[in-house]
Amino acid sequence: MKRILLIGKDGQLGQELQPFLGSLGSFVAVGRDTLDLSKSQEIGRLIEEIKPEWVINAAAYTAVDKAESEPELAMAINGIAPGVLAKCCQQLDATFIHISTDYVFDGTQSHPYIETDLTHPIGVYGQSKLAGEIAIQDTQAQFAILRTAWVYGVGGTGNFVKTMLRLGKEREEIRVVCDQVGSPTWTGDLAKSIVELIPRLNSETYGIYHCTNSGVTSWYDFAIAIFEEAELLGFPLKIKRVIPITTPEYPTPARRPAYSVLSGKKLANLLGTHAPQWRQGLRRMLQELKVKQAI
Ligand SMILES: NC(=O)c1ccc[n+]([C@@H]2O[C@H](COP(=O)([O-])OP(=O)(O)OC[C@H]3O[C@@H](n4cnc5c(N)ncnc54)[C@H](OP(=O)(O)O)[C@@H]3O)[C@@H](O)[C@H]2O)c1
Repeated sequence: MKRILLIGKDGQLGQELQPFLGSLGSFVAVGRDTLDLSKSQEIGRLIEEIKPEWVINAAAYTAVDKAESEPELAMAINGIAPGVLAKCCQQLDATFIHISTDYVFDGTQSHPYIETDLTHPIGVYGQSKLAGEIAIQDTQAQFAILRTAWVYGVGGTGNFVKTMLRLGKEREEIRVVCDQVGSPTWTGDLAKSIVELIPRLNSETYGIYHCTNSGVTSWYDFAIAIFEEAELLGFPLKIKRVIPITTPEYPTPARRPAYSVLSGKKLANLLGTHAPQWRQGLRRMLQELKVKQAI
C-alpha cells in the first residue's frame, strides 16, 4: 500500500479526490489549518512526519481577480510552496503531483495548446502558477504537473456552474461573456484522470500533462447548457434570457485568456482513454448536486 499525502482537502478538487484515493493506498488529507502553504517553512516538517510516497497538491491561491492586488500572497502559495514541496519529495524519493492551469498561456493561439507551447501568463494568478511549475522543474523531483481549466464540482465554495444556478434562480435575465472559449472541466473527471495517471508515473512519464474535459465552448454557451441541463433535472429556475456580451463589457481586475483550450492528447495516449465531453461532465455534476441538494 502506497502512502499518500493530499494537500488542499477542502477545495473543489481536493474534496473530489478523496473517495478515489483509497484505491491507490492509504492517505492523509490536510487542509489549510494543518498546512498553510504561505508559510513554506512548515512544509518540510509535515512531509517529514508523514513520509508519503506520493504527494498531491490540490491547494492553490485561486482568486484570480484578487491576486492582482495580493501578488505576494499568490506567489507565496502558487509560486514558492510548490517548489518547496517538490524539494521535500525529492529528499524522500516521493513523487509529486501538482495541479496547474490554462492561465499559464496568454490565450492568443487559435488551436489547442500542447504541453510544450510557449507560456506567457497575462495576469498575476497565471504568473504565480507558472512560477510554481518552474520551481518544481528546477528540482530533481519525480513529478507530474497537470494543467487543467474552467474547473467546477459539487464541493468547494463556488464556481461558474453554482453561480449560474444561483443567478438563474433569482433573475430572469443575465449577461454572460461570449468571446472567451475553453473546456469546462468537472472535478469528477479530473480526479479520475489524476488517479489513473499516478500508477503510470515513472522515469519515462514524469512531466507536464494537460487534463480537461474534451470539447470547446464559450462562457455564454456554457451558461445556456447549464440552464438546459438544470431544467431537465428540475432545478428551480426563473431565467428567461441569457444575453451574450463581450469581454470589454464585463471588466474584471484580471485579464483572462480568450482561447483556453488545452490539447489532452498526451494524457489520452498514456491513459489509453479520451477525456469525456464537457457536457457529459456537466450533466453528471448536476445530477450529483441534485442528489446531494448542495445548492
Ligand atoms: N477553479 C478553476 O477553474 C481552475 C482552473 C484551472 C486550474 N485550477 C487549479 O486546480 C487546482 C484545484 O483548484 P480548485 O478549483 O479545487 O480550487 P479551490 O476550490 O479554490 O480550492 C483551493 C484550496 O486551496 C486551499 N488554500 C488556499 N490557500 C491556501 C494556503 N495558504 N495553504 C493551504 N491551503 C490553501 C483552499 O483552502 P480553504 O478551503 O481554507 O480556502 C482551498 O481548499 C488548483 O491548483 C488551481 O490552481 C483551477
